[in-house]
Amino acid sequence: MASLLISILVIPLLSLLVIGWRRTRDEAIGRRFKTLLAEFVGLLGAFNVGDLIPSLGWINKLNGLDKKVERVAKEFDDFLEQVVEEHVSKLNKPYQQEERKYNNDDNNSTRNNNDSDGDGDSDNKDFVDVLLEFQRGNLAGFPLSKLSIKAIILDIFAAGTDTTYTVLEWAMTELLKHPKVMENLQREVREVAKGRLNITDEDLDRLRYLNAVVKETLRLHPPLPLLFPRAVTRDVTINGYDVAAGTMVITNAWAIGRDPDSWGPNPDEFKPERFLGNPVDYKGQNFELIPFGAGRRGCPGIAFAMAMDNFVLANLMLRFDWALPPGMRAEDLDMTQCTGLTIHRKKYININDVHDTILTESERAISMLFQKR
Ligand code: HEM
Repeated sequence: MASLLISILVIPLLSLLVIGWRRTRDEAIGRRFKTLLAEFVGLLGAFNVGDLIPSLGWINKLNGLDKKVERVAKEFDDFLEQVVEEHVSKLNKPYQQEERKYNNDDNNSTRNNNDSDGDGDSDNKDFVDVLLEFQRGNLAGFPLSKLSIKAIILDIFAAGTDTTYTVLEWAMTELLKHPKVMENLQREVREVAKGRLNITDEDLDRLRYLNAVVKETLRLHPPLPLLFPRAVTRDVTINGYDVAAGTMVITNAWAIGRDPDSWGPNPDEFKPERFLGNPVDYKGQNFELIPFGAGRRGCPGIAFAMAMDNFVLANLMLRFDWALPPGMRAEDLDMTQCTGLTIHRKKYININDVHDTILTESERAISMLFQKR
């Protein structure tokens, strides 16, 4: 399920919105990009001795970590350079055409043809277009270099892909483990759909139970259980502990989400009902639930991630009746988590759409959801 969701949903959607790439774009480059992204995310979660004991940083030269970092950084930079350059030349097109118009009065036939690659998308701006406009118009209030633009794109792919699909993976797992919850969710989604084949984004506000299921999934399975490390800027005392300026602090969002002081006597239990009529949210205002972090460095992708996860989960519940393979019991589901920056299930889920198909068959159906919109 993991590879399925990441390959057919998250990366293609982010690629379209951020760099304007469609699925039809060169397949080999697309595949290379996916592998590179996986390597990059893997490196972010790799154990780096030098981070913890700087004097032992040389070990990274021996174990190959430094070399791998350099290779991936170079390949990613080449890739992003190409992306930015393509956008720059697309942006330059109208100016060149204007220039030609004035240089050649007799020929204005190219005037309104800005669609450089012929895909009919000249009016659809992606995120890189917007960043370049900010750069050109000096709208950011500070110089936005090409290097910064490449770093921002990389940041978004690194932070937005794995995290978003992991929520779906854990939500499906918990729903399979708790068929009653799945039934409640399906009832809600199907009542709101009223016979329609798709849940639309306008429906999402009315799906209160769905929202509770997603929150409960984020509470028990925050995709980044250890938030990004922070350095303390001044000496502080927290709960009687003295923390010196410069100390690296790692926040354990996983443990916070399972703290009995906040979540009652059975904090490990998957129970979306605890969020019904409960104002606690994940947007960084309620410190007992911080899967997206909080404060100025909190996740800027919350709205995007939640729209996508809620939307996909709702449609998966609307269209299919999911169940474990025959003979498998809920308690047999292996809940082991893998290690790394983002915490996935260690094993892929093999689940059935009870009517007749196995998940791989559902791949077509899920992609159809997106084609139909
Ligand atoms: C369920 C999905 C997601 C989760 C759980 C998540 C979680 C997080 C967390 C915990 C952080 C660090 C915050 C902190 O340490 O306080 C973060 C940072 C970030 N996230 Fe997300 N994220 C998700 C989806 C996304 C998406 C879809 C995007 C972009 C489209 C995104 C973009 C970013 C960026 C750019 C940062 C770095 C901010 C900075 O530079 O400090 N995230 N995210």
